[in-house]
Amino acid sequence: ALRLLAPQDLVGLTVVVSAGGTREPIDPVRYLGNRSSGRQGAALAVEAATRGADVELVAANLAGEVLAEAGHPRIRIRPVATAAELATAMKEAADRADVVVMAAAVADYRPAQAAAHKLTKEDGILERIELVENEDVLAALGAARLAGGAPVGQIILGFAAETATDPEARRDRARRKRERKGADLLAVNLADAEHGFEKRENAVEVIGPDGAVVTVASGSKRAVAAALWDAVVALRG
Ligand code: CTP
Ligand code: CA
Repeated sequence: ALRLLAPQDLVGLTVVVSAGGTREPIDPVRYLGNRSSGRQGAALAVEAATRGADVELVAANLAGEVLAEAGHPRIRIRPVATAAELATAMKEAADRADVVVMAAAVADYRPAQAAAHKLTKEDGILERIELVENEDVLAALGAARLAGGAPVGQIILGFAAETATDPEARRDRARRKRERKGADLLAVNLADAEHGFEKRENAVEVIGPDGAVVTVASGSKRAVAAALWDAVVALRG
């Protein structure tokens, strides 16, 4: 539905949103990446700013066109490239954030070494790239909050792209993921042909603190963003 006036229910809040997909260097010209456009994260940032929040958008490799969508006087953009850079930026911002949103697709692994020069076939390395696991940023932010290293009442919203087709199996995976990472809310992307990565529309189901589905939303990424902020506001009480 078209809203003539956005609610001003986020005034006075500082929020940080990660968006996009990290790129893990193999050599100066190659990387391991993913297909996240960052549109859902950008929409979350714009919706929050429109509702009055001060927003830091940690932008992992967003295309110029997506960055342009995130232009707003209350949005500060912090560009990052790798999972390690994203982790540093998120930890700094989360220290003073009332709400943390981890919408970025963070690479689970990175090449153990990034070569200083462009690898050639003769180097024989490109056939088998050794990978090491990246830090789980969302879990680190959840643990930091548990240890008292976050503003009182901080809300953490994570995402999960689950591919299980059975809805109950998908929810169970999401429930375990939410608890493991210490997030309050976990938005499960229901990725299919019309929704999700590289698409303009999205559909999510949000798992809340007691494991119940607290929100179901679909439509434009902006409409989904509005529903997600409604869920955050409801939780803050
Ligand atoms: N995430 C993160 N750091 C990582 C990987 C994921 O912060 N190294 C965050 C994502 O931003 C997202 C949430 O964790 O908010 C869930 O990501 P997802 O890839 O679904 O979970 P994983 O724990 O990586 O599990 P899977 O093996 O299913 O990929
Ligand atoms: Ca993952």
